[in-house]
Amino acid sequence: MATVLVVDDERSMREFLAICLRREGYDVSVAESGVRALEWVNGHDVDVIVTDLKMPGELDGLGLLRGIRERGFDTEVIVVTAFATPETAIAAMKEGAYDYLTKPFKVDEIRAVIGRVLEKRALVEANLALREKVTGRYRLASLLGRSPQMQRVFELIGKIHSTRTSVLITGESGTGKELVARALHSEGNRAQKPFVAVNCGAIPAELLESELFGHRRGSFTGAVADKVGLFQQADGGTLFLDEIGELTLSLQVKLLRALQERKVKAVGDTMETEVDVRVIAATNRELEEEVARAAFRSDLYYRLNVIEVRLPALRQRREDLSLLIEHFVRRYAAEQDKRIIGLTPEATRALESYEYPGNVRELENIIEHGITMASGQRIDVTDLPRLRQSAQSGTSDGAQVAIPDEGFDLDRSLADYERAIVLRAMEQSGNVRKRAARLLGISFRSLRYRLAKLGMDEGEAEE
Ligand SMILES: Nc1ncnc2c1ncn2[C@@H]1O[C@H](COP(=O)(O)OP(=O)(O)OP(=O)(O)O)[C@@H](O)[C@H]1O
Ligand SMILES: [Mg+2]
Repeated sequence: MATVLVVDDERSMREFLAICLRREGYDVSVAESGVRALEWVNGHDVDVIVTDLKMPGELDGLGLLRGIRERGFDTEVIVVTAFATPETAIAAMKEGAYDYLTKPFKVDEIRAVIGRVLEKRALVEANLALREKVTGRYRLASLLGRSPQMQRVFELIGKIHSTRTSVLITGESGTGKELVARALHSEGNRAQKPFVAVNCGAIPAELLESELFGHRRGSFTGAVADKVGLFQQADGGTLFLDEIGELTLSLQVKLLRALQERKVKAVGDTMETEVDVRVIAATNRELEEEVARAAFRSDLYYRLNVIEVRLPALRQRREDLSLLIEHFVRRYAAEQDKRIIGLTPEATRALESYEYPGNVRELENIIEHGITMASGQRIDVTDLPRLRQSAQSGTSDGAQVAIPDEGFDLDRSLADYERAIVLRAMEQSGNVRKRAARLLGISFRSLRYRLAKLGMDEGEAEE
C-alpha cells in the first residue's frame, strides 16, 4: 500500500485530506509542522508528502522539501499553496517538488496528482529492477562476465552446482578457477555446509596425506595427537583440491580410493570413516598431457574429470574487459578511500590492447596499483607503468642475441635470465611466494626450488 504524509498547520485541512486519501486506499499519516514531518520521514517509509507551503515554525513547506532532498530521501513532494503566487510554486518545483496545487482544490485534482506521482515511482522501481536483472546476467556469485564463453560457464555452473559429481576446473593462472569452485558451492545445495580449500602444490608431499585424510596420534614423529583431515572437515560440503596436478602418484591412488569408496582412512588408522564430500579439483596444467606421460593416473583423471569447466584466458574474451575494469576500479577506489571514477581514454586504450598473460588476477593487480598511483579523478596511463613495461618487453626478440666468437655460456645466461624473471615476479607480487608462483605459472614447490637454487630463498613475506 502506498504511504502518504499530509503536512499542514491547519487541523481541518489535515483531516480533510487524510479522509479523502484514506478513502482512495492509501496509508495516510499526518504532521502539523515541517519539523515533525521531517522526523516522521526519518523513521518511516513515505512515498508521497502533500505539504502546505506556508506554515509557521522553523520549517515551512519549502524548508521541508529541502530537508528531504538534503538527506537524500527519495520521497516525492507535492506542495499546496493558498496563494496562487507563481513564484513560490516555481521555487518549489525548482527544489524538486513533483507538482503543486493551489487552494482551494477539488478532491479529484489531488487524487489525480497522487495517482500520477505513484505511477512514476512504480516505473522508476520497475526500471531499477530491470537493470538489476540485466546486470544480474553478467554475474554469478562473484564471477563477472558478459562474453559468450563466460555465459556458457555460468550456464554450466547452473546445471551442475547441486550434483555430487566431481568437477575439474581448468584454465590458465588467474582465470578465476577458485571463484568458479566457490560459486559451485555457494549456488548449490551444499552451500550451508563447509567449503574447504587446499592447495596441493603448497603443502609438502609428506604432510599432504595427513592434511587430507587426518592421522592417528603416534602414527609418525610429530603426530602428538589425533588429527581430523580436510575430507572430514568438509563433510556434507565441498572439498576444493587446487593444483591437483601437483599430487604425487602415491597420493593419487589414495585420493582415487577416497572418491570411489566415499571413505577415508587416516594415517596410522586401520578403520575407514565414511564421508560425504563433493570434490572439485583445479589445475592450470594440461592434465591430459601429464596422463600421456604417466605423471598423472588416468583412472583418477577420468574420475575427477566427469565434468570439466574450462575457463578461457582473458585475452580470448576481451568483451569482459570493460566490465571487469569497472568492477575493480569501484572496488579498489572504495577500499583505498579514493574518489576515482574511471580511466583516461589513453589508459583505457592501453588496458584494451594488453595481452594479460596473468589473466584476471593481473588485470586486478594493475588496477589496484593504478588506483594507488592516481592523483586525479581518473587513472592515467602514467599510473600504469607495469603495463607499459610489459608491453615493451613483449616485443623483445630472442633471436637478436649475438653469440661472441669466443663462445657463450648458455647455462649461465639462462640462469641469469631466470633470476631476473623470478626477481621481477617476486617484486610484482609484493614478495609473496605463492603469488609469484602463480604469476610465473609454476607451482609453489617449483618456485621454492628455484629460489633455493638461485640463492634467493630468504626474506619473503607470507600472504
Ligand atoms: N570472472 C571474474 N570476475 C571477477 N573477478 C574475477 C574473475 N575471474 C577472476 N577474478 C579475480 O581474479 C583473481 C584470480 O582468480 P582465481 O584465484 O579464482 O584464479 P585461479 O584461476 O584460481 O588462479 P591460479 O591458477 O593462479 O590459482 C581473484 O582475485 C578473483 O577474484
Ligand atoms: Mg587458484
